[in-house]
Amino acid sequence: MVKRMHPNTILDTSMTEQTAAVLNYHQRTKHHLNVYAKGPESLDWEDQPNPFRRFTGCETVKLPQPGTELACLFGDLDQADHIQAQPLSLPHLGLLLELSFGLSAWKQFGPDRWALRCNPSSGNLHPTEAYVVCADPSLLMPGVYHYVSHDHHLERRCQFKTAGSGEGIYIGLSSIHWREAWKYGERALRYCQHDIGHALAALSYAASCLGWTVELLSEVADQDIAAWLGLDRESDFVTLEQEMPDLLCRLHPGNPPKAAFDAKALSQLFAGAEWFGQAERLSGRHFYRWPIIDAVANQLEKPQTTAERWQAPFLPLPTASHNLPASQLIRQRRSAQHFNGKAASLPLVDFQRIIAALLPNDKPPFTTWNWPSQVIMMLFVHRVDGLEPGLYVLPRGAASLTELKSICSADFEWLPVEAPFEFYRLTAGNLRQAAKTLSCHQPIASDSAFSLGMLARFAEHVEAEAWRYRRLFWECGLLGQILYLEAEAAGVRGTGIGCFFDDAVHGVLGLTDNTWQSLYHFTIGEPLEDGRLQTLAAYGHLQP
Ligand SMILES: Cc1cc2nc3c(=O)[nH]c(=O)nc-3n(C[C@H](O)[C@H](O)[C@H](O)COP(=O)(O)O)c2cc1C
Repeated sequence: MVKRMHPNTILDTSMTEQTAAVLNYHQRTKHHLNVYAKGPESLDWEDQPNPFRRFTGCETVKLPQPGTELACLFGDLDQADHIQAQPLSLPHLGLLLELSFGLSAWKQFGPDRWALRCNPSSGNLHPTEAYVVCADPSLLMPGVYHYVSHDHHLERRCQFKTAGSGEGIYIGLSSIHWREAWKYGERALRYCQHDIGHALAALSYAASCLGWTVELLSEVADQDIAAWLGLDRESDFVTLEQEMPDLLCRLHPGNPPKAAFDAKALSQLFAGAEWFGQAERLSGRHFYRWPIIDAVANQLEKPQTTAERWQAPFLPLPTASHNLPASQLIRQRRSAQHFNGKAASLPLVDFQRIIAALLPNDKPPFTTWNWPSQVIMMLFVHRVDGLEPGLYVLPRGAASLTELKSICSADFEWLPVEAPFEFYRLTAGNLRQAAKTLSCHQPIASDSAFSLGMLARFAEHVEAEAWRYRRLFWECGLLGQILYLEAEAAGVRGTGIGCFFDDAVHGVLGLTDNTWQSLYHFTIGEPLEDGRLQTLAAYGHLQP
């Protein structure tokens, strides 16, 4: 058993090379009040990576015109198994991809124009790429397809010789670390993993709107994902712009079939398959380099593991106050850039719905998640009706009260709060300044109705299997996506916060080692719109 590490102690020599490398990466990519993790000293705009990857030399498959609204309401997703399954067709596959990873709008300020997508991304850099592996000839010529969100089309990267049993649609996700590292340097790998969690949840929600489910094939080895998505074809990618495999999901349009996933059968489809295309260059040059990212990514490689599936019990939720069509709500999701620090308090019913939606439940996106919760929430409540401002904790079933009391500051009061979930007040008081300071001095953490830190059970997982480090960030990203959509459904807005002072957060909570670590922050409140920005239609550029 490896001794728990105090932030400043030297790593135990008995731990595996992988664990040591990952703990070292985590430690050195912490932001501190007096120094930020290593990143570029200035942003080299010449280097700015293209947020849209395209492969030249591939045939493209146009997807039907995006923008269709579905009848199902956001609240219907609370009992997604009651939603009538739409037939598997190209329009519905297109809608699935659009509502998960497609464009949601363009923003313009003077000569600058940038796209927003249904899935959020740290710095809007979008390191996540999405692929469809199709073995069903009634849908698409069997093969591997890369989704280009800008053009809303698929690029055929690979054509199978045979369709095998003719069953199986898979969605694969990968990350281009360089996209994120260009701006954020060494800490970027963390953000890529948050983004994967957001993207997975976005996919789960989008599938539910169609009455479909998404099964995360978490047993699969990264090496296999790389082979199936063509990511290991080194010569197809520009050096320093390669994609790292993250996860593979199986799509179930309608009821999930009983048959277990058969990796061998999927591999067989690739026998004699023909590959096409070369990834276009994303950056003219790569001035700053962050070799630790590749080094730790190698240590984080996931081997084949046994299949794990886990189902949370069903938990009824109160209806959201802005119960819009789910597809509309997904497309209107945005990050608030500023909050109204003088806004009225958030109604308690809205707060309770948002918080209850974070509890493991037999609904999307938890139906796509294979493990019990490992993340608790520390909430900085600023303005919520009927709740005294202060610091609160939501254990989410991830830790017992006894355990939490034993690891946190002895000064906390642990006052049970009357709510439809287990919830405690740790201390009362105005914590706006503290929340702002801890989140890299960002006013979005203090001007909102509440902000929060996500604490993950940490050392135990990284020591058991180093790659679980990624999974902890995925869970945080998945919870962040719930918060984004629930905020919209409450008529307010959210913003993910990747920039925070790690050990300062731990210090405030009284944590003295890395048994638990803060991995992500989030904030929700009444947004202040920037009237100087123009909003343009997501796919106006595709109109004939
Ligand atoms: C993992 C992650 C971390 C983020 N961190 C911050 C942050 O520290 N500060 C901030 O203002 N926005 C942050 N954001 C919000 C992004 O900047 C935003 O998602 C991106 O600009 C795209 O805009 P959209 O969410 O409106 O689509 C973060 C988003 C994600 C997903």
